[in-house]
Amino acid sequence: MISERLLSTAVRSTQARYFARTPRSVESLPGPEPGKQYLLYAHVPFCERLCPYCSFNRFPFSEETARKYFGSLREQMRMVARLGYEFGALYVGGGTPTILVDELCATIDLARELFGELEVSTETNPNHLIPEVLEPLKDRVQRMSVGVQSFDDDLLKQMDRYDKYGSGAEILERIRLVEGFFHSLNVDMIFNFPSQTEAVLRRDVEMVKASRCNQTTFYPLMASSAVEKSLRSTVGMVDYDREARYYKILVDELADTFELSTAWTFSRTGGGMIDEYIVDYEEYVGIGSGAFSYLGGDIYLTTFSLRDYSAAIAEGRMPVAVGSADNGLGNRMRYRFLMDLFGLRLDKKKFEEDFGVSVERGLWKEMLFFRTFGGFATGTDEELTLTERGRYLTVVMQRSMFAHLNSLRDTARNALAPDERRLLFGDGAAGCEAGGHDESA
Ligand SMILES: C[S@@+](CC[C@H](N)C(=O)[O-])C[C@H]1O[C@@H](n2cnc3c(N)ncnc32)[C@H](O)[C@@H]1O
Ligand code: SF4
Repeated sequence: MISERLLSTAVRSTQARYFARTPRSVESLPGPEPGKQYLLYAHVPFCERLCPYCSFNRFPFSEETARKYFGSLREQMRMVARLGYEFGALYVGGGTPTILVDELCATIDLARELFGELEVSTETNPNHLIPEVLEPLKDRVQRMSVGVQSFDDDLLKQMDRYDKYGSGAEILERIRLVEGFFHSLNVDMIFNFPSQTEAVLRRDVEMVKASRCNQTTFYPLMASSAVEKSLRSTVGMVDYDREARYYKILVDELADTFELSTAWTFSRTGGGMIDEYIVDYEEYVGIGSGAFSYLGGDIYLTTFSLRDYSAAIAEGRMPVAVGSADNGLGNRMRYRFLMDLFGLRLDKKKFEEDFGVSVERGLWKEMLFFRTFGGFATGTDEELTLTERGRYLTVVMQRSMFAHLNSLRDTARNALAPDERRLLFGDGAAGCEAGGHDESA
């Protein structure tokens, strides 16, 4: 549809100006600004199997490499504490953070020692929903998220997840056993796989309901240039023209059991709203190889090289680069507009207080666009909320922003030494060569 095409082109061109072509290395992340709330994000870039669609920083798992890495991650956490940061929440993402549960526990425990009581979220894969992994995390983690993608066995086979992470029936069984274990259990799904028919999508929604999870996130399938080839040869080419129709099916089919808490996250009705952190906290510090930070209007990117990461941390440096070209008022307002609307409500008073200009005047083009295409449900003096159409437009905006983050990732990957690049784009077999990356080098 024309509105989506216009919007993703507009977002792409404004963001193209925001993101730097070549990230600029700096010595360290900046310190905190007084009175601001921050989230701490820690990245664990190891997986037992590499999925062909995934453009996050992830390497085939090798125990030796991963143990050294966790040590460096905790050292970087201490460096961030020395900068004076305080945090109310920790999100450990991946990759697969539960790959070495003792190391994950030590990392969470250190975060509590350094920053006090924290609300902790982490991510896992279905094969880790077993007592040996879950028991040690029970009192350490409040929000658990498990990546499922689809319950359809054919799709799971196309994604190369079936053998390692289990069949649809096994995954469902495992999730049901976790009920009540954590404050919240989120199930990550992907919609708009090329071979996903409407019937398969509807069945996926039914299985999510049957899983008894209290939150689900349905990401639209996103293709970055780094994974385009592997996507094409496994799940096929992404058809964005179908996306709006599939999104509507999701929203309609989930409506009797879940309510929206962001444009693509759904919380079980009556279970209390469980927001996405990224919406609760505007700014965050990312630690670990491949992690992003958003601080003072700038994006920072930590090296994708495990070798460079460990070497820099051992020398007491943070291997980070600034990935944004312009952190001026316009871009900061656009970022707020996107994140607030993605969280379904823009607070106009807070916008004016923070930027010294009303959203109508500061972002008149964006406002005109949303009004023209019927995006706003309410537009009072206090707030902007969205129609169903407006929610889908924010999905398009968010997907376009992810595309830019992915191109930053692609630039960072291109800078890797050949042995590390081979690991990222090789056959993804666990253990292959990963131990061979010489961290002392
Ligand atoms: C990066 S993974 C990390 C957690 C865990 N390893 C997993 O597979 O869920 C988090 C989620 O990102 C989503 N994701 C990854 N690549 C994606 C892509 N190309 N398009 C849409 N969603 C994607 C998947 O739903 C996945 O569950
Ligand atoms: S398990 Fe797959 S989707 Fe999850 S981080 Fe690893 S490669 Fe990406």
